[in-house]
Amino acid sequence: MCGIIGYAGSENAVPIIINGLKKLEYRGYDSAGLAVYTEQKFDVVKRKGRLAALESCLKENPVSGFTGIGHTRWATHGEPSDENSHPHLGHQNKIAIVHNGIIENYKRLRENLKAKGIAFTSQTDSEVIAQLAEYYYNGDIIDTIIKVANRLEGSYALGVMCLDQPGTLIAVRKDNPLIVGVCETGNFIASDIPAVLKHTNKVYYPDDKEIAIIKKDGVTFINFDKEPIDKELETISWDADSAEKGGYPHFMLKEIMEQPKVTTDTFLSLSGNHDNSKIINDLKLDSYNKLVITACGSAYNAGVVAKYVFEKLCRVSVEVELASEFRYKNAIIDEKTLVILISQSGETADTIAAMREAKSKGAHTLSIVNVIGSTIAKEADHTIYTIAGPEIAVATTKAFSAQLIVLYTLGVEFAHKLKKIDTAQRQVYLNDIKTIPEKIKAILNRIDKIQHYATDCIAYKSIFFIGRNIDYAIALEGSLKLKEISYIHSEAYAGGELKHGTISLIEDNTLVVALSNCERLSPKIMSNIEQVISRGAKSLLVGSCKADEIEDKLQVIAVPEIHELFSPSLSVIVLQLFSYYVAANKGLDIDKPRNLAKSVTVE
Ligand code: F6R
Repeated sequence: MCGIIGYAGSENAVPIIINGLKKLEYRGYDSAGLAVYTEQKFDVVKRKGRLAALESCLKENPVSGFTGIGHTRWATHGEPSDENSHPHLGHQNKIAIVHNGIIENYKRLRENLKAKGIAFTSQTDSEVIAQLAEYYYNGDIIDTIIKVANRLEGSYALGVMCLDQPGTLIAVRKDNPLIVGVCETGNFIASDIPAVLKHTNKVYYPDDKEIAIIKKDGVTFINFDKEPIDKELETISWDADSAEKGGYPHFMLKEIMEQPKVTTDTFLSLSGNHDNSKIINDLKLDSYNKLVITACGSAYNAGVVAKYVFEKLCRVSVEVELASEFRYKNAIIDEKTLVILISQSGETADTIAAMREAKSKGAHTLSIVNVIGSTIAKEADHTIYTIAGPEIAVATTKAFSAQLIVLYTLGVEFAHKLKKIDTAQRQVYLNDIKTIPEKIKAILNRIDKIQHYATDCIAYKSIFFIGRNIDYAIALEGSLKLKEISYIHSEAYAGGELKHGTISLIEDNTLVVALSNCERLSPKIMSNIEQVISRGAKSLLVGSCKADEIEDKLQVIAVPEIHELFSPSLSVIVLQLFSYYVAANKGLDIDKPRNLAKSVTVE
């Protein structure tokens, strides 16, 4: 995964790089490092561990320079260590690189270089890029980069400095994100927009195999034939504050609290003259005979919610597939299939692969993406943007809520276009969706009760989530949220499945969180609750269906009433806050859970 940043300008690059890395740390936090160009040499500082370790090292041994590159690592090849940290230099210390991606043929390249007497200092796949570059270097760094890129198999976003080119950064990408930011005091490369937002909201999006040449006073782009490329400078609407904590202890809590605004903004973008609404209007829905949704993690869970919504409203059958499975299953799709891809980052490797697989089979692709200009957003046939702003916490909250709003609205509009609901019914549904932000606010106003309940839950060994129908979809999300940030074992089940195996795990010191928003299924979920309580578990019921609390055995956190199809947007707020406060009470690093990274750009 990893995050890269680079700067060439008139200010000291070191604080700029450190600040940028702070915004990229969500992409990986096993180690961090930077290199700056100073008087005919590179000063390189890199440290295993969080960015703070690099910062304290820099405090003791400060370095400075006007051109530099930095990296924050999510280890793939080689353990987290100082040696395996980036930047990597070639054997003559002439070329320094930072790399995000995976070089699939690195072993072969490494053996070839070793056979030529070149010694490696790390176990990474990335070092091979620096070594190969120095091996090929003949005085022309652009020629060298083209040659190297042509030898690499896999994916890369690269930032490169060469000793013979003071004040110049070179960047190139293939299948990994890279932006180029421009401002008066210097220019940037970065893996993601928040890394440069403090300095500029003007960015270029290089395409695969385009080379960006970044100097203090300008940026140029060329292709692998060294022909100049004209690129459009784009303005990002996100402001710098949106990438700051704004007084909250964690980004996750800040992002949870932003959900009334995010759901309002996203809903508004789906009507009127906004690009999102035009896309929905332009979709020729009656020309498809199959609907497939594919995504990973929480985005997949949003897809499971959508399956219930679409099937109920449109009466068409919908397949939801994990992108990591879809890409390898030789899916039965063709030009009459609409494949919907859901992704916050727009850079998830499995979802990108699923999209390309779908396109290669002639299917139409519609993406729902948060990050503007990301690979999925650019490559899908149509893209609807969620208006969630930058999401920094690794565990997604507000982007998930924005995805739900898009999916509900799509469901209603599809149903209307397919004549499964009339105009009046359409309006009733849309009016209901419109109430979601206010209802989320009402839940956030009762945060104390959730916080209080969560405080008592940190000792549970296992927490199960159950629900039926659309409540099952949100049980999946509640369980994922909890396990990823609190490290408590958790699983989600359809309520009816308990008796087919899982109930054998229920004993004292188990909590079962039951979702209950479907009135017609409320008696069923209540009997599930009774079954687990009688086997020693405690239960928490979350939902709009009424239930009586049973002393210390069953607690209820009620959510406002809404059509059951849209209830996930309300239940999920309780579940996000529950997970957050369990993790906070355990004193864990909520925004950067162990072993995870936000943007999963590797398989
Ligand atoms: C969980 C979480 C992940 C992501 C998944 C997909 O809180 O954030 O499960 O949902 O990695 O990422 P995107 O949406 O960027 O494709």
